[in-house]
Amino acid sequence: MTPKTIMKTIAVIPAAGLGKRLGNKKKPFLMLSGMPLLAHTLRAFEECASIDGIIITTATEDIERCREEVVNKYDFSKVIAVVSGGKERQESIANALEEVGDTCEVVVVHDAARPLVTPEVIECTVKAAGESGAAITAVPLKDTVKSVSGGRVQETLRRDTLRAVQTPQAFKSDILKRAYAQAKEDGFVGTDDSSLVERLGITVTIIDGNNSNIKVTTKEDIVIAECLLKEKL
Ligand code: CTP
Ligand code: MG
Repeated sequence: MTPKTIMKTIAVIPAAGLGKRLGNKKKPFLMLSGMPLLAHTLRAFEECASIDGIIITTATEDIERCREEVVNKYDFSKVIAVVSGGKERQESIANALEEVGDTCEVVVVHDAARPLVTPEVIECTVKAAGESGAAITAVPLKDTVKSVSGGRVQETLRRDTLRAVQTPQAFKSDILKRAYAQAKEDGFVGTDDSSLVERLGITVTIIDGNNSNIKVTTKEDIVIAECLLKEKL
């Protein structure tokens, strides 16, 4: 394993959610195609050459289980820490960032709940962040999107200008740390990491993601993820 002191690119994998929309099932330990969901996610990072280290955040009571049933069992040698998450995703990532050392140049954040991410997409996002400071993956929308209020349509948004944003999202380490510190100071809570960075006035590069990189959120997604993993689409 690369010594922690010279790690240039670190992946932060938030896995401390409650899985409420899945009937309170802890998604990281959900078995998919014979392996815990989190193991599928970690495998992509383990196989991605540009990743030096991985930090996982999980619920405090699941730290040992995460080490035993996932990290040790599947021999994920790049994992440098498993830390306690917080109440919100943002808090979980803030905890992980405390473990990111000063030699780290790029941090790539990726939801544990997206087990179909590929090493190629991670590589591409990390490279773009190294060059421009901030890069996120996104896909065009399939549905038409409208803003609504009180059960009525307010406006139809122009679909060609919209993107559905995924993870991985990668940033120069100092930018992401600054964004998290500023959000904390301002009491701002975002639904992704990029929104914290955007508040600093930093331009974020869009990388073409894959439709198969779904976030397992509701029970239908388990069926879809199983199929995609089998087909390796
Ligand atoms: N996450 C986290 N800490 C939290 C909340 C979420 O680390 N306090 C992680 C989840 O484990 C997941 C990712 O952030 O990998 C994206 O969150 P989401 O898909 O919303 O998962 P959950 O929060 O577990 O699901 P739900 O919102 O349905 O409870
Ligand atoms: Mg959630």
